[in-house]
Amino acid sequence: MSGTSMDGIDASLVDFSAKKPNVVASLYAPFSKTIVTKIRRLSNPSNLISLEQLGQLDNQLGHLYAQTISNLLKSTPYSSQDIIAIGCHGQTMHHAPTINHPFSLQIGNPNIIAEETGITTITDFRRRDIAAGGQGAPLVPAFHKEFFSAPGENRVILNIGGIANITLLPKESRKKVSGFDTGPGNTLMDYWVQTHLHNPYDKNGNWADTGICQKELLEEMLNDPYFFIEPPKSTGKEYFSPGWLANLIAKKKYLPEDIQATLCHLTTQSITKAIIKTDITPDRLLVCGGGIHNHLLMKLLRKEFSCPVNSTQEFGLHPDQVEAVAFAWLARQTFNGLPGNMTDVTGACRSVILGGIYPGEKSSFPNKLKN
Ligand SMILES: Nc1ncnc2c1ncn2[C@@H]1O[C@H](COP(=O)(O)OP(=O)(O)O)[C@@H](O)[C@H]1O
Ligand SMILES: [Mg+2]
Repeated sequence: MSGTSMDGIDASLVDFSAKKPNVVASLYAPFSKTIVTKIRRLSNPSNLISLEQLGQLDNQLGHLYAQTISNLLKSTPYSSQDIIAIGCHGQTMHHAPTINHPFSLQIGNPNIIAEETGITTITDFRRRDIAAGGQGAPLVPAFHKEFFSAPGENRVILNIGGIANITLLPKESRKKVSGFDTGPGNTLMDYWVQTHLHNPYDKNGNWADTGICQKELLEEMLNDPYFFIEPPKSTGKEYFSPGWLANLIAKKKYLPEDIQATLCHLTTQSITKAIIKTDITPDRLLVCGGGIHNHLLMKLLRKEFSCPVNSTQEFGLHPDQVEAVAFAWLARQTFNGLPGNMTDVTGACRSVILGGIYPGEKSSFPNKLKN
């Protein structure tokens, strides 16, 4: 998994033979500055991009994913023959689910991953859902339902990556599971601290903590039409972009740390309002994604809810590994000929088997696939 934060690759080796998935080993491989610069340049909607550069980055990421998987396996007693499949989300270059000819583009050449690791590789999860009329996102709710549902407890699973998304798991199993992107997670905070302090992110929210939230600015931010759209909905850093922020702060004088504080409040407020608007009163919030390490963000979030706000760690999965495990599970669904999308979440007209399968040299290939 590598998400919109462009921080690096999260790889997990998961054993699905028991009822609950068992994470055998995990590895985080941060992206080099050179790679981050390339991804940023090529995924910036206001840049003209060269196809040659895009093709090269597609391959470069394929090599990096393959290398990360090989390194992960080296830390275990397993070899490529033991692995049934790789689920690779790829790097999102553009997510535009509502334009004319909607699309979501993830890159990281799966042919290279399958060739270099010898393992059957499943990628390109989002485009089949879009072909079926969905948003292609979020895709993690089906996994959240499988892993985190608890009878008798209304749960909200909150993933704070570059973008934040929620899954609502009602205590009555007959009720619908829903989920959507709530808006910015870390993306705007990352951009702001990168611009002003040249740090990749605001460690623990320490810088934001020195600032004061600007109430009027926050109100203006929260008036963005995205927050009022009814789900199904999904968004990306091409919407909550540096330009989005620049428009809101143009011609006004704010201290940079006050903007950082306001952005932190924006993340927690947009999440809170989104949850309150649903017909579920949460008995518990389970949080995952890198945002959980931002102490200020978590403190602000906890202030908004009277119910417990826990890390997914307390319920069996490390918060930094949830998405990687989810894409391993989605790959398993595909491999077994089972759907991975939830129509109530993405808005697709039907449940579909997601992704493309690139057979590995040494490992298995599903021989029965029906869609
Ligand atoms: N110690 C920390 N303090 C504050 N923020 C953190 C910390 N560690 C990680 N993060 C945030 O988490 C982000 C990465 O989260 P991640 O779940 O990998 O997102 P994505 O899925 O978009 O890649 C970083 O860009 C950063 O904003
Ligand atoms: Mg990440």
